[in-house]
Formats: sequence, structure tokens, C-alpha cells
Amino acid sequence: MDTLFVGQNLIQLSEVGSTNTYAISLLQSTKPAEGTVIYAKKQTNGKGQRGNSWLSEPLMNLTVTAIFYPSFLQVNNHFYLSKITALALHDVLSEALNTSQHDIRIKWPNDILVDKRKIAGVLIENAFRSSAIVQSVIGIGLNVNQSDFGALQHTATSLYNITGQFIDPKDLLALLCKYLEKWYMQVRKGSYDRINANYLEHLYWRNEWKQFEQEGGKVLKGRISNVAENGQLILELESGLMKGFEVKEISFLHEMNRE
Ligand code: BTN
Repeated sequence: MDTLFVGQNLIQLSEVGSTNTYAISLLQSTKPAEGTVIYAKKQTNGKGQRGNSWLSEPLMNLTVTAIFYPSFLQVNNHFYLSKITALALHDVLSEALNTSQHDIRIKWPNDILVDKRKIAGVLIENAFRSSAIVQSVIGIGLNVNQSDFGALQHTATSLYNITGQFIDPKDLLALLCKYLEKWYMQVRKGSYDRINANYLEHLYWRNEWKQFEQEGGKVLKGRISNVAENGQLILELESGLMKGFEVKEISFLHEMNRE
């Protein structure tokens, strides 16, 4: 592992319910070193965003969680943890794929898409004391060698499906640790402008007029102009008004039958 601290303490599990849940219970009894990474070959009860589950074929993919203590971050800046994780994944994929042939994008808040299909998801669970983030459990699922995504076949992908080549997930783990460390250092030293600029540069649907669905089903036309410090998606509406949305309040309305 070519890092200073991320992944230096590596806990490898052959089977676990959820690496995030494992990390949270570990934190209840001990204080593992910052950058501790939990890596599971098989995850039987993976958790996804919005209360969904995360399904991953055993041995095929990366299902990992990293533990950080970002007490330098205020609660209202928690979204920087999402940004740096997405940027680390973007770096990993840029190194693993030929970027002149593939479009690697960050879909707000922190999904990673390659050629419009989801290849990675992130679930961050923070703990706060006063107004500081005292502990952050960053869970990452990256599809590596899985080829069959069942009902999600047209919306999900893996490195194997893109390149036709199997890769040892452990090789990607080393890359992921390297880039997580790189971006964590950036947030630790307060390089917010650099983080924001890179996140916006790779943002999916940025500056394009698209349809979104609001909570309750109302369809809205707008274009993404920014992502606020607090993580809200800032849309420019047809009226010219700028409006911010929380994760729960809006979803991307994709054209049906794209394939
Ligand atoms: C999403 O819905 O996009 C987020 C998926 C996050 C999955 C990862 S796999 C490792 C870690 N442990 C979990 O239970 N979930 C995250």
C-alpha cells in the first residue's frame, strides 16, 4: 500500500453483513487508527443510499469502508467528504480506463457513472459532537468483475463489462486508498476551491437542460449550475430562478428505454 495512512491498517473479512455497520460497531468499542480500511470479500447485507440495499456478487467487486476523524470539518461542511470520495473514485477509474474512450462522471451527490451507467456508489455515515464531525465511516462499492446486474443490466456496469478484462479487486483497493488519501489531505488543509472546481468539472448533467422529478412526483425542467457548500444541488429553473434541493427532494429523470 503506497500511502501514509489510508489502508495501512487493513481489516480483511471473508464475509460480513455490511462493512459500514462493522466499522460503526468497531468504533463503539475502540478507536482504530485514522485511515483504517475494512475490506470484505463477501458482503451479505450491503447498505445503499436512501435505505436501499447494495447487492454485490461475492469476490467480484470492491466493498470497502474507510474510517476518518475529520474533526476539523464543521457539520455544515460534511458534503466535502462526499466530494472527496467521488473525486478519489474518479481518479481510480481514470487510471483504470482509457479516458479518451470513456466518459467518467460524478452524478450528484456521489454516484460514479461510466458512459452513463453506474459503476460505484458511496454511503457515508458520520457522527457529530457539538458542531464538528468526529467520525466518518465512508463506504464504497465499486463494480469490478461482475458481469450480470439482473434488472439493473442497462443502468449498472463494471470495469469488466467495459474492458472485457478481469482485474484483481485488491489492486484497485490500493489505488483507491492512494486517491482517498490524496483528497482527504486536500480537505484537511482546506483546499475547498480546488475540491469544488474538480467536482464541478466532472459533474454529470452540469449546465445541460434536463428534467428532474421532485418529491411528490412533480416534473421540473432545469440545469445544474452548482452544488452548494451544504451539498444542495443548485438548479437554474426556466424562469431564471436559482433553487437548491436536498438529496431527498429531487431525482434525475432519465429518458426511458435509452438502450
Ligand atoms: C449507493 O446506494 O449508491 C451506495 C452504495 C454503497 C455500498 C457500499 S459497499 C461497502 C459499504 N458497506 C455497505 O453496507 N455499503 C457500502
